[in-house]
Amino acid sequence: MKKIGILTSGGDCPGLNATIRGVAKALYEIYPDVKIYGIHDGYYGLIHGEYQEMHPEDFSDILTRGGTILGTYRTPYKKMQIIEEDNIDKVANMKKNYKEMGLDCLLTLGGNGTHKTANLLSEEGLNVIGLPKTIDNDIYGTDFTFGFHTAVDLATEVIDRVHTTADSHKRVMLIEIMGNKAGWLTLYSGIAGGADVLLLPEIPYDVDSICKAVEARTEAGKSSTIIAVAEGAMSKEEAAMKKKERAAYRAERGETTVTNRLVKEIMQRTGSETRAVIPGHFLRGGTPSAYDRVLATQFGVYAAELIRKEKYGVTVALVGNKITHNKLSDIAGKPKLVPVDHQMVQVARAMGLSFGD
Ligand code: F6P
Repeated sequence: MKKIGILTSGGDCPGLNATIRGVAKALYEIYPDVKIYGIHDGYYGLIHGEYQEMHPEDFSDILTRGGTILGTYRTPYKKMQIIEEDNIDKVANMKKNYKEMGLDCLLTLGGNGTHKTANLLSEEGLNVIGLPKTIDNDIYGTDFTFGFHTAVDLATEVIDRVHTTADSHKRVMLIEIMGNKAGWLTLYSGIAGGADVLLLPEIPYDVDSICKAVEARTEAGKSSTIIAVAEGAMSKEEAAMKKKERAAYRAERGETTVTNRLVKEIMQRTGSETRAVIPGHFLRGGTPSAYDRVLATQFGVYAAELIRKEKYGVTVALVGNKITHNKLSDIAGKPKLVPVDHQMVQVARAMGLSFGD
């Protein structure tokens, strides 16, 4: 009899439950007597032995539900091998609980941090399969992660609605979009929402160049300017700083992101009324889009098939419209950032959008 553990770790996103459902339903088809253990709150539950045996009915009615029925928690990879801080050998505990459950495989649904720990557990001899989730779409080796397209739809709706109020008031509007390291969500939703300026962490901006773009639009008789700002966007000056130095620079100014600073700078320099909208976790909430339900189901079914083939130490991926897998060791610790010459960046530039560079 097969025994499979599932956990969801890191920030939640739409499509986690659809993926859990996909893999569970496919597993019950392959192994009608499979035992599935739902591990609570990500790696925290695996470390502390908090899990429950699941039953087929637990996987019903969850396709459309946002969040994760298993709960999630951020357990940073960099602390995984540190015993002193909380006096727990986390890796040893995870191995012990895996053995106690008698698992044949552990499924880890998560982002970059989750995949690093998944790889560590795989190197420690556990059978692990990853499934790539995140609204940031920044996992190496997959064209898309589940959760991303739903967030693109939501961010696009925010931008769409901001357009009408911006036009009425003849304002510059900044919309801050989640994505600390990677600007994919800003790039896609900015294009979909018809933004005029896109500020990504990968393309540091110069405020003069942003103001020039605003002024050019005003001179051309446009009534408003929409600026999509990634949460991790930074000025050229900040990009030249080390990470700690940049954090200190922002802390001194009481800032975590550049959005509110830019509101003041643009208003002062251009004289245009400027406002900011920060949808934040709204972009991670609620039901997955049809695209993500399909992708999550495809990923889930593929993971069940990997279990049938006893193919472990891998993570599921979408490459060129085909579901496939990559070795965990090939993707762990390699976030997928937006290449500055990416085709979508070129598309945006060809459309006359400014990256403020
Ligand atoms: O990784 C997904 C994400 O939403 C990022 O876009 C964002 O930077 C981060 O999580 C926010 O994390 P938290 O929910 O822990 O504040």
